[in-house]
Amino acid sequence: MKLRKSEVIYARRRQTLVSAVSAISSILIAGSGFMGSGIAYLAATKTSAQVFIFDSAKRALDNAQQTFTKLGQSSLQKGFIDETRLDQAQGQLKVLSSLDKLPELDLVIEAISEDLAAKQQLFQSLDAQCPAKAIFASNTSSLPITALASVTTRADRFIGMHFFSPAHIMKLLEVIPGVDTSITTKDFAIEFGQHLGKTVITSKDAPGFITTRLGMVLLNEAAFALMEGLSTAEEIDMGMKLGYNHPMGPLALADFVGLDICLNVMQTMHDWFGDSKYRPCPLLRQMVSAGHLGKKTGRGFYQYSGVA
Ligand SMILES: NC(=O)c1ccc[n+]([C@@H]2O[C@H](COP(=O)([O-])OP(=O)(O)OC[C@H]3O[C@@H](n4cnc5c(N)ncnc54)[C@H](O)[C@@H]3O)[C@@H](O)[C@H]2O)c1
Repeated sequence: MKLRKSEVIYARRRQTLVSAVSAISSILIAGSGFMGSGIAYLAATKTSAQVFIFDSAKRALDNAQQTFTKLGQSSLQKGFIDETRLDQAQGQLKVLSSLDKLPELDLVIEAISEDLAAKQQLFQSLDAQCPAKAIFASNTSSLPITALASVTTRADRFIGMHFFSPAHIMKLLEVIPGVDTSITTKDFAIEFGQHLGKTVITSKDAPGFITTRLGMVLLNEAAFALMEGLSTAEEIDMGMKLGYNHPMGPLALADFVGLDICLNVMQTMHDWFGDSKYRPCPLLRQMVSAGHLGKKTGRGFYQYSGVA
């Protein structure tokens, strides 16, 4: 069967992208916290690349190695991976406690704390050390990609790759090109995400992109509903679970995400859009200032037993 010219071009382009993804032999995950450790596991089990993890806190690096083992054992028990592949993945993982003497990298996925200045500083330092071909991706959930890319000399090879937690399980990857991201980098990120087993959606660059913007506005509005005394936390959550088929109510989800993170994201969207519809709920501010951050501290909109 003779292919049309456009089909030939598409097939060639696709082949180039597949080759670019399989040519990735060394990945740095910068930040080995909650998200970084999950992304490291995902990258090591779904690619044959050497996966380096770096964190400024030694404890986070130790935790990431424990998480890797825990996720591996659980996947093994569930039959998602076999022992040989898990051993291989374990061998692909290397811990870096400093950024001195970096190996030659093809891809960096940054997952440090949600702080624009800290992320910019890290990217600036990586930019000075990494080869020009290396692609930089940020897992930020709200910060504008263009602002992160602007401190590097590779805005064309800089992109948002927003994974969801837990990164090795959640099906979605949101890809966000900045204003200067090249089409090749965007296509690469989509192809790479699909190679990791994700369904990819794309969003133009705006604070919170699609998913954080829509999700956080709901969580913030649920906090307003509680603050205004419309109902109890349980009933507000039940309303969204049974009325809108959400698997989890917005207040329970806010506790799971962390109320400090919810507040931070709302503040970012409020600052960047300058629109009062993103003002953080005062109840959220109050709970964060009281140290009630949700599940991780044992108290948020709900109480959790067995947590410090
Ligand atoms: N938690 C989520 O559900 C979620 C989901 C999607 C995206 N994200 C995004 O992923 C990123 C990380 O979030 P997280 O929940 O994993 O946070 P986390 O606090 O669990 O981990 C952040 C890690 O970054 C390290 N770190 C901070 N500054 C550093 C620096 N300058 N150099 C090296 N390491 C540094 C910290 O030591 C910590 O281990 C954030 O941008 C967040 O918005 C989070």
